[in-house]
Amino acid sequence: MHYIRLLRPPSLDETTRLLKLVLTITTDLGDSFLCPDEPVLIAVYLVTDSIVITKNISRSVWSAGMRVLKLDLSLPAQAVTNIAEIPFDTTGRILGLSVSFPSPGAETRYTAVRELAIHTQKNGDCDLKEDEVVLQIAEEIGESIDRHVWDAGVVTTGLILDMCGFNATGCDRWCNMPLLRGLLTSAAKRPLNVIELGCGVGILGIGVAHAGSPASNEVQNVGRVLLTDLADAEEMTRINIGSNTQTRRGDANASSLELPLLDFEELDWEDGQDGVFGCKASATNWDLVIISDCTYNVDMLSALVKTLSALRAASEPELKVMLATKPRHSSEGALFDLMAAEGWSILENGSQPLPLLGMEEERVEIYLFGNSDASPGSVSAEVGDGVKHGSTKKRKLG
Ligand SMILES: C[S@@+](CC[C@H](N)C(=O)[O-])C[C@H]1O[C@@H](n2cnc3c(N)ncnc32)[C@H](O)[C@@H]1O
Repeated sequence: MHYIRLLRPPSLDETTRLLKLVLTITTDLGDSFLCPDEPVLIAVYLVTDSIVITKNISRSVWSAGMRVLKLDLSLPAQAVTNIAEIPFDTTGRILGLSVSFPSPGAETRYTAVRELAIHTQKNGDCDLKEDEVVLQIAEEIGESIDRHVWDAGVVTTGLILDMCGFNATGCDRWCNMPLLRGLLTSAAKRPLNVIELGCGVGILGIGVAHAGSPASNEVQNVGRVLLTDLADAEEMTRINIGSNTQTRRGDANASSLELPLLDFEELDWEDGQDGVFGCKASATNWDLVIISDCTYNVDMLSALVKTLSALRAASEPELKVMLATKPRHSSEGALFDLMAAEGWSILENGSQPLPLLGMEEERVEIYLFGNSDASPGSVSAEVGDGVKHGSTKKRKLG
């Protein structure tokens, strides 16, 4: 997949009234620029107080060999009033973004927003199209590859929302992983407690919270979702938790989506591997760990796997791990040996080809791991909310 990225925040030349944008189109890692056979048309829309950049009808094009596109745009007389009028690339090969308009005197904002449109459909009725819900995921503007969305997170979020009942296209739900689907959608004795490792900007955890919410299944299947990462991920993740717990496109007065409890806590796998967790991670019996695109750095695999085992020792023996990855190099295969050595076995797996333009085939692989010694049955039969009451300090577990 390719992503339209701004290399710096948009600026407005107040004398000429030209809006200046500098953008590029790269892969998630930023290691390759879009190289299409045919030029791709780029559209920029002004939507009330935002600028939306996507792929579609426009005077500007991105062609093979380009590394940057500079746009000096005369301001239109009128902004588009409804964001739904904007034609996004619905196949997801190139992800557009939206960004705040650079109002004179206002503080420059270094964030842009990716939007994932999802539709709620209930009771298996394919003709019934209810409210459109939009996940709005903010990420950093600039050349840094930190703090933005990644392919595995985007694709896995879409698949999970689809398999759990949100479906934009009809009844062909992605159901290659029935155990995972059962975990997220079947009524258990208590709602699942989910912890994400290496959450980045939070897209997957927020997506799982939506998937396990009553809007998807009519019952609350997910009780809490704790997103964890290194400390510098906290600000962006909290922005995204905030903007996705209240928003419903086109209805500013809509009530909250009754999402599971969403929160962030710092968790460095260097600590987690020794069983050292913060108070939020150690206060709950976890049922499911979710991870996406965190296995590309083989130097960190051991700490990551040992963190999983420390969580299992401190939580439910039936703890499951859903791990999504876009394999980037063969050395990442070491993960599976490390998991097996720690007593994790693959319960099921699935894969999904990425929507691509001008690239060789790539896939996202999703694995559900469980304890080799435990039966791959349902999650904990414990009654209650799974919270270990009374723990408040960072401490060593297990
Ligand atoms: C490629 S990003 C993936 C982010 C997110 N899961 C997604 O799919 O969008 C990898 C993430 O792992 C986190 N990470 C790397 N080393 C870590 C460590 N030692 N402890 C915790 N998180 C770590 C990074 O901060 C980063 O957010």
